[in-house]
Amino acid sequence: MNLRPQNFNITREQKEKLNGHKSFVVWLTGFSGSGKSTIANALEVALFERGVRSFCLDGDNTRLGINKDLGFSTEDRTENIRRVAEMAKLFLESGTIVITSFISPLISDRAMAKSIIGDADFVEVFINCPLAICENRDVKGLYAKARRGEIKNFTGIDSPFEPPIKADIELLTAKNSVQECVEIILKEIEGKLSC
Ligand code: ADX
Repeated sequence: MNLRPQNFNITREQKEKLNGHKSFVVWLTGFSGSGKSTIANALEVALFERGVRSFCLDGDNTRLGINKDLGFSTEDRTENIRRVAEMAKLFLESGTIVITSFISPLISDRAMAKSIIGDADFVEVFINCPLAICENRDVKGLYAKARRGEIKNFTGIDSPFEPPIKADIELLTAKNSVQECVEIILKEIEGKLSC
């Protein structure tokens, strides 16, 4: 049975019209503790208040469920990002804005996500926060564990993070407030919203 999107009776464009806005993916990348989820949640609130339908995908709602078979080896992270990109692509068909919060540390994995989702529907946001500050915050206590060698392959400690060369948006979460960061994203995506 072929269930490709174009075979559904109601098209993505019709759903976007019904919602009153276009759908696309806002892809947040950055270290653990850089503020990805905080920005994602605040952005979702701001969009909701403007009547825009969105959905957040992050490690909490994917790594405990659909991706619970995956760890943090290079291969598993690649598969994590591939599945997230495929999920995001499905959400696009529902006319929903998707906000993803994943470290997604490799340029090649983010390029894969972009090619799955489609260039025109992919907004890359670099949540740029110095590692020292993320480590200092250590909200989940994981950096301390990684430094003690209790967690292996921890991003920034013994596993690489490749910053985007030219992200669509770069946010300095150590300098700007959450609200300022959300305003920057809103300003940037405003033009993409209208049907
Ligand atoms: S990704 O690299 O595959 O994109 P993802 O964003 O899903 O990672 O998960 C990162 C979260 O998992 C971190 O915020 C942290 O809470 C937790 N985590 C557990 N082990 C690791 C690890 N080895 N490296 C990075 N994050 C880890």
